[in-house]
Amino acid sequence: MTLITTLFFMVVTVLAIAPHLGPSVVGAHKGGGGGYLYPQFYDHSCPRAQEIVKSVVAQAVAKETRMAASLLRLHFHDCFVKGCDASLLLDSSGTIISEKRSNPNRNSARGFEVLDAVKSALEKECPGTVSCADIIALAARDSTVLAGGPSWEVPLGRRDSRGASLSGSNNDIPAPNNTLPTIITKFKLQGLDLVDLVALSGSHTIGFSRCTSFRQRLYNQTGNGLPDSTLDPSYAAQLRTGCPRSGGDQNIFPLDPASPAHFDNNYFKNIIYSKGLLNSDEVLFSKSLKTMELVKLYAQNNDLFFQQFAISMVKMGNISPLTGEKGEIRKHCRKINTY
Ligand code: HEM
Repeated sequence: MTLITTLFFMVVTVLAIAPHLGPSVVGAHKGGGGGYLYPQFYDHSCPRAQEIVKSVVAQAVAKETRMAASLLRLHFHDCFVKGCDASLLLDSSGTIISEKRSNPNRNSARGFEVLDAVKSALEKECPGTVSCADIIALAARDSTVLAGGPSWEVPLGRRDSRGASLSGSNNDIPAPNNTLPTIITKFKLQGLDLVDLVALSGSHTIGFSRCTSFRQRLYNQTGNGLPDSTLDPSYAAQLRTGCPRSGGDQNIFPLDPASPAHFDNNYFKNIIYSKGLLNSDEVLFSKSLKTMELVKLYAQNNDLFFQQFAISMVKMGNISPLTGEKGEIRKHCRKINTY
């Protein structure tokens, strides 16, 4: 046999066995259980899964526009705590102390009923098949699209945790008054870099914040009894009318007043005009040249923001998933299975 023929047979053999080595699809990502996430995961086991998620989410967003933002945020709060494993969705019971009680989530995280509705529709269609963690990831993508943002293929195959971490939720999710270095470190711990941080913060182009999350900026930013000097004074005055020195903690304000329900790059433009609502938004512009350049770039170029947002969402969605034999497929997203 000539060398050429030998090489030919080697190539043919590799191609023939490749499908049996695991998913050889574009967009596959290594998971924590030795398995992979890939967009076609439910193509055979639950072919209508993505369609069902989309339809339930679309109904919920049609009923309340804000729901798109709330569902997008749930994916972030899930993935930053023990990976994207739906630990966030567990209610307290038995040994489980719910993450819903943590500082970032209490009186704030919302949209759980919508995910329950998706899960119950999926359990009817294909029982015990689609994980709650994948439902959150798909709902985040569908919400973004419904709000006018970019779309992406969601790698799938995550399994659900059998536990939650209240301390993880308190410590690992950045707080709005964290310094930029702290926020950067919290992203880095999840394998996310500065580009991911700035692009993903662009989620604040939709949704609302409570007064309690930014009050400090209006009255006493640095402990000297003065408002944050980096906040536009007339915008600050306007915010003070609805967010008094004390009381009104739960009053809500759009994160992007320019277009609160529309997913676009106005968030970045607001920041440049000293009208970023949260301190964590503003510091992206004032505390690092690198993040400042990215804010300017996305403010100038919506397409670039959309492209990077999609890439960074897939990256965030790949944080330590449970795959293979790890975890379980919960029957109900609020509780672990009983055997
Ligand atoms: C960079 C660090 C981040 C900080 C400090 C932060 C902080 C916050 C805070 C304080 C709120 C308002 C919560 C309230 O007052 O009830 C909020 C809302 C929101 N966040 Fe973030 N966030 C960050 C990154 C992200 C990321 C990465 C995403 C998504 C990928 C995201 C999506 C959202 C959305 C969509 C809302 C509005 C939710 C609603 O209206 O229900 N945030 N965030």
